[in-house]
Amino acid sequence: MNLNQEIALVTGGSRGIGKACSVALGKAGAEVLVNYVSNATAAEETAHAITQAGGRASTVRFDVGNVEQTQTAIEQLLKEKKKISVLVNNAGITRDGLLMRYSLEDWDQVLATNLRGSFVTSQAVVRSMMKERRGSIIHISSIVGLTGNPGQAAYCAAKAGLIGLAKSMARELASRNIRVNAVAPGFIDTDMTHELTEDQQKAILQAIPLGRTGKPEEIANAVLYLASPMSEYVTGQVLVVDGGMGM
Ligand SMILES: NC(=O)c1ccc[n+]([C@@H]2O[C@H](COP(=O)([O-])OP(=O)(O)OC[C@H]3O[C@@H](n4cnc5c(N)ncnc54)[C@H](OP(=O)(O)O)[C@@H]3O)[C@@H](O)[C@H]2O)c1
Repeated sequence: MNLNQEIALVTGGSRGIGKACSVALGKAGAEVLVNYVSNATAAEETAHAITQAGGRASTVRFDVGNVEQTQTAIEQLLKEKKKISVLVNNAGITRDGLLMRYSLEDWDQVLATNLRGSFVTSQAVVRSMMKERRGSIIHISSIVGLTGNPGQAAYCAAKAGLIGLAKSMARELASRNIRVNAVAPGFIDTDMTHELTEDQQKAILQAIPLGRTGKPEEIANAVLYLASPMSEYVTGQVLVVDGGMGM
């Protein structure tokens, strides 16, 4: 796969699924802008892994939950790079808790990072894609955005929202040759899922027909496909990569 012409921004591209996406896109030839918010070392390590393999990468810090920070950082990136042709909206957080005790602060933070962050980032990037008359945007949703999950109302609402956002954007931007899709991962082995208790992890594993957790690289493969010309007739879709969990 040759993505030499592409400049890809991966939000939350420093760890976990985002890191795997950054590395896969970088190895395929794209110049990768690795976004992070707090862990600069992890971001540098990810960029280093790409350059070590002969690719092009740099890091960029902004909080996708902060509208002004996101807009300013992307404006600056577009001044420097002239275009961003692939956007992976991956940055996300969980704040789990039962509905009756769930705080509005947590709701706002989960929605601001996972859903509004993807909207604001897309809005800032799309201008350059419209000028180029091409681009691919991939929202990292989740299987629970389709199935729901007890204790994750805010997270599931945000992830379901990303699917609606992907479809609306796909319809709105198709005439400009900009494709917008979502990837819905199942239970993937990252820092995010390591936060779950052993009992929670066991219960989830039992619900996965393929009988194991997914690897971040398996999500990156789906992202790579959606970023590449191999999927040039695919838009407005949700690609579920979950070991059969949600079927
Ligand atoms: N793991 C799973 O099983 C799973 C399943 C379905 C969907 N997903 C989704 O996949 C995405 C990645 O998950 P993951 O498991 O790889 O998570 P992770 O290991 O916790 O990594 C999260 C990444 O997002 C960045 N980030 C967090 N908040 C941010 C913010 N406000 N602004 C910019 N970057 C931010 C982090 O940067 P710092 O290191 O700087 O904090 C880090 O690079 C998320 O959207 C998640 O909801 C994950």
